[in-house]
Amino acid sequence: MNMDSVINLKEFKLLKTELTRFMMAYKFALDEMDTKINILSEEFNYMHEYNPIEHVKSRVKSPESIINKIYRKGCEPNLDSIRENIRDIAGLRITCSFISDIYEISKMIQKQKDIKVIEYKDYIKNPKPNGYQSLHMIIEIPIFMSDREVAVYVEIQIRTIAMDFWASLEHKIFYKYNKEVPQKLLNELREASRMSSELDKKMERINVEVNHLKKLDEAEEEYIVIDNNNRLNTPLKFLEALIDK
Ligand code: GTP
Ligand code: MG
Repeated sequence: MNMDSVINLKEFKLLKTELTRFMMAYKFALDEMDTKINILSEEFNYMHEYNPIEHVKSRVKSPESIINKIYRKGCEPNLDSIRENIRDIAGLRITCSFISDIYEISKMIQKQKDIKVIEYKDYIKNPKPNGYQSLHMIIEIPIFMSDREVAVYVEIQIRTIAMDFWASLEHKIFYKYNKEVPQKLLNELREASRMSSELDKKMERINVEVNHLKKLDEAEEEYIVIDNNNRLNTPLKFLEALIDK
């Protein structure tokens, strides 16, 4: 038997275990984040009778995309370098109802003690030149394995439905279009982003106004009490009835 091939097979098995473990950590990080987001969403819903999260998507980057990015960024092809330089292997995208929800959710995530914020990019306040908008964060979260603790980077993108709509279609339109895009189309794309941003702001204003009306209604309801005859009464009438007795 050729000893070289035996050693190679052993090395290959070790490499396979190491690679699988490397990728597993990212899956676990997303599992942890999924649980965190579910807790926030359920508890927020219970406390405020309103769920700011429309939907959540997560993905682990495919080995093919990782390899492409290694070449694109010119990063060393070893695990330590990949871990340090490619920080979106685990990706989480949270779609919220309103712009203000984005900042609330982002704050709730940032406040958690086991989460370290590594990078924060606000493409809502400062959209990309093509019009892309979202709040991006790279966070670091500890994962406890059977024999070690590893810190894993996760890229979190938080956006509204309108921002998600624009980004999804922009990606579809330009995916694998490697030529330079004519200026006229770029302008139109930016204009579409501006329109969707206006829509977001309008929906937010409507929501704020309705919430204000709801609060007024609730304040009214607090003043309504039910008397012994099961009739609805205002406190004043209720007091009058008590004095009369
Ligand atoms: P990458 O090296 O591509 O990760 O860029 P970066 O490290 O500068 O990160 P950035 O925060 O700019 O973008 C990361 C991710 O945001 C991308 O992988 C996309 O998912 C999303 N994104 C950024 N810009 C655009 C855009 O113009 N259009 C769309 N559809 N998505 C974008
Ligand atoms: Mg990135």
